[in-house]
Amino acid sequence: MKAINVGLLGIGTVGGGTYAVLTRNQEEITRRAGRPIRITAVADRNVERARELVNTVVGADVKVTDDAFSLVKDPSIDIVVELIGGYTTALDLVMMAIDNGKHVVTANKALLAVHGNEIFAAAQKKGVMVAFEAAVAGGIPIIKALREGLSANRIQWLAGIINGTTNFILSEMRDKGHGFTAVLHEAQRLGYAEADPTFDIEGIDAAHKVTLMAAIAFGIPVQFDRAHVEGITKLDAVDIKYAEQLGYRIKLLGIAKRKVAGVELRVHPTLIPSKRLIANVEGAMNAVLVWGDAVGATLYYGKGAGAEPTASAVIADLVDVTRLATADPQNRVPHLAFQPDQLSDLPILPMDEVETACYLRMRALDKPGVLAEVTRILADLNISIDAMIQKEPAEGEDQTDVVLLTHLAREKYINAAIHKIEALDCIHGKVVRIRMEALNG
Ligand code: HSE
Repeated sequence: MKAINVGLLGIGTVGGGTYAVLTRNQEEITRRAGRPIRITAVADRNVERARELVNTVVGADVKVTDDAFSLVKDPSIDIVVELIGGYTTALDLVMMAIDNGKHVVTANKALLAVHGNEIFAAAQKKGVMVAFEAAVAGGIPIIKALREGLSANRIQWLAGIINGTTNFILSEMRDKGHGFTAVLHEAQRLGYAEADPTFDIEGIDAAHKVTLMAAIAFGIPVQFDRAHVEGITKLDAVDIKYAEQLGYRIKLLGIAKRKVAGVELRVHPTLIPSKRLIANVEGAMNAVLVWGDAVGATLYYGKGAGAEPTASAVIADLVDVTRLATADPQNRVPHLAFQPDQLSDLPILPMDEVETACYLRMRALDKPGVLAEVTRILADLNISIDAMIQKEPAEGEDQTDVVLLTHLAREKYINAAIHKIEALDCIHGKVVRIRMEALNG
């Protein structure tokens, strides 16, 4: 059967991996897709390196160019794979590819989290597919699981370790007891963190990914601008130690929860019970825990980045698109799992309305009545205490750490309590707050 022709935008790490895996597993992939999938054109700024890469395959007949715009207009191309990244040129290229009737496969979470609604609407109108398995959690087929495998379920919530860089840093901080900055530098030296790690360490990359998962899980538009985003830059190694003593691990979680009034959409460092499987996901690995009303908990684990793990997801999309390319456009799997005219207007809740238990650490004077004052503030705001640690002051000091775990409370009451506690004369400095998730249903 006639091959489907693919144009690759960007042949860096993931593009190179895609080219290599497609070539290596060509026979098996063809048997799965029903027809050969061939990369026939590559656009990359570095034409020399791109040529070298494609020429590693003997007899490869691949057009190499630095003009990505000519590739997305090329009538011989059926599917455009966008691996450039970013929101600007990538948006123009994806929209132009759609306009020219091409199906699109992309690993670009930032682009879809910010411009997804407009991209999916254009694709719907044009009758083409936009597939993005590689945009969330690299090689883990989580989009497929949420969109198709779990489609019987009312999904209640999902929580994921969806950024390998920050998970690596947190694992190192816990294992070695080192501070954030020292571990970040070590991660950069080992190639686990980018030279500019802002998107990863500030939680933005995880927020892009959880935004996409929330849309698919709950059938709502993509709303990155409504997500609460907190990274790990302010996390202190001492809190990782205290959390451990209380039976918890701290992970950067992307969380999406369906509540009666709307959807909680948030990324922040989170205490989770050490005994949960997901608490034991270490290093650069990713994992997503999904709770559906019929199936209960399901857990997806694997490599969230890297050339071939991400290529695995890109190629799975290429196979899907190839299989569906001849199907009636109305009967294809919808981009966001739910039919486009059936998206719900369930709002994303403001952070003030989000309900979590919290870990609170404060530096307190060691004198009578201090705990009474702190607990009075919490009691007045109807915040119940679940556990507490108070250390003896170090030799010659009159201050000590007090660590409290609360039961579930609304964010606005916790904020009010923190504000009042920080104003007490017996409390020095800021109160550290880390939210907790039991992740048990
Ligand atoms: N930078 C991401 C991470 C991988 O550290 O997990 C690509 O999404």
